Amino acid sequence: MAGVVIVGAQWGDEGKGKVVDHYAKEADVIVRYCGGANAGHTVVHAGKKYKFNLLPSGVLYPQKTNILGNGTVIEPEKLLAELAELEEAGISPTLFISPKAHVVLPIHKDLDAAEEEHKGARAAGTTKRGIGPAYSDKAARFGLRFEDFCDPVALREKLPKLLALKEKVLAVYGKKPTQAASETLQQYLSYSQECAKYLADASLLLNEALSKKKNVLFEGAQATMLDIDHGFYPYCTSSNTSAGGACTGSGVGPCAISEVVGVVKAYTSRVGEGPVPSEIFDSTAEKIRERGGEFGTVTRRPRRIGWLDLVTLRYSKMVNGLTGIAFTRVDTLSSIEAVKICVAYEFEGKKIEHMPLTSAQFSICKPIYREFSGWEDLGEGWASCNSFAKLPKNARAYLEFISKELSTPIYFVGIGPSREHAIVLKDVFKK
Ligand code: IMP
Repeated sequence: MAGVVIVGAQWGDEGKGKVVDHYAKEADVIVRYCGGANAGHTVVHAGKKYKFNLLPSGVLYPQKTNILGNGTVIEPEKLLAELAELEEAGISPTLFISPKAHVVLPIHKDLDAAEEEHKGARAAGTTKRGIGPAYSDKAARFGLRFEDFCDPVALREKLPKLLALKEKVLAVYGKKPTQAASETLQQYLSYSQECAKYLADASLLLNEALSKKKNVLFEGAQATMLDIDHGFYPYCTSSNTSAGGACTGSGVGPCAISEVVGVVKAYTSRVGEGPVPSEIFDSTAEKIRERGGEFGTVTRRPRRIGWLDLVTLRYSKMVNGLTGIAFTRVDTLSSIEAVKICVAYEFEGKKIEHMPLTSAQFSICKPIYREFSGWEDLGEGWASCNSFAKLPKNARAYLEFISKELSTPIYFVGIGPSREHAIVLKDVFKK
C-alpha cells in the first residue's frame, strides 16, 4: 500500500503541479483533499497547456481515478468549465466527488469581498473565490453539501433558506448580492443535473484502492503556512492544507500515508497579506519575480519575493512529518552572485531557530542570514542536467545544506518548466 501526500512546504505556489504531475504517472488514484478554486496549477499535456483551479492533476490520464474529497469546496460553474475544456480536447476523465464536499455559491464570493473590505489591516488578501465564507458555512453546519446540491428536492429546500440568511449578512456590510436568489436556484438546479453523475463515496473508493495495494496520491493545494490551524492566522486560507488534512479531507486513516513530500521552492514567494520575515524588496527580488513569472495564477497579483526561510521550513517539516523534499525553481535562482538562506530569526535580541510562540511574536522576528555563492544559469543546458551530480556545484551545496538542516532527503529537483526539467532521486511509489 502506498499513500503519498504532496504538500506545499511554504506559502504556496511552490510549483506543486510539476511534482504532482511527475509522481501522478505512477499513481492509480489522485485525490484533492482541501481548498477549492483558489488553487491554480498548469499542466502541459500533448503540447497543450491546461490551467486547473479545481480538478485534480490526474484528469489528463483517463485511466486514472480522480477524486475531489470531502475537504474541498466546489464551485460548480468552475468545475463544469474545466470539464468542458477537457471534453473539447477529447478527454473524458474518471472523476468522483465526495457527497461531503461543500458547494461554493455566488453569494460566498460577494461575502468574501465584503468581509475583506471590512477587515482592513486584517484582510488576508484572499482570491475572492468565496473560499472563507463557504468553509464558514460548513463549520456553522448550514453549508450546502455536494449531496444536497445533487438532489433537486434537497436543493430546492435548503438553498433558498441559506441564501436568505446570507443576504441578511451581506446587508450588514451594506452590500447586495450580485445575483438574485431565484436566479442562483435555477442556475444551481441546472448545474446539479450535470454534476450529479460524479457523486461517489470517495472515502470508500480510496480505502478499497489502498487495500488493493493501489498507489494513491494525495494532492495538496495551497501550502503549510496557509493552513487554517498551522499557517499564519489570519493571513491564511480556510482549510487544513497541511499533510494531516489529507486524512480528514479524504476519509482515510493516518496509517494510509507512507510518504509526505514537501515541495520547497528554492526561494520564498507569497501572494496575499501577512508577515514574511525573509521578504526582500531590492532589485534581486525584481529579478527573481520577472525570471520566475511570479504573478498569481488565480489573481495575477505580483508575488512577494524573499530568501528561503529555514525557520518556517523546520516548522513545516514538523507539522507535516515530511519524509522527503521536492525542490523547485533551482534554475530561476541561478545567475545571482550571492544567495541567502534565513537560518534563524532574531527575536527580542535573541537568536531563535524555531517559530516563536505567538503570531504577534512572529510578526516582529527579523531574519538572520547565511550567504552562499550563487550558481550559473545553464540556459538550454538545464534540460540535459539529468542527475544531481550534474547540477552546478554551488547549487548542490545550497540544496544539500537545506536537506541536512531539515534532516530530510532530497527526492526531486525541478530545474525548469517542462517535464524533462526534473531530477528524480526517489520514486515515491516504489516499495
Ligand atoms: P483564500 O484561500 O482565497 O481565502 O485566500 C486566503 C489566503 O491564501 C490569501 O493570502 C491568498 O493569497 C492565499 N492563497 C489561497 N490560495 C492560494 C494558492 O493557491 N497559492 C498561494 N496563495 C494562496
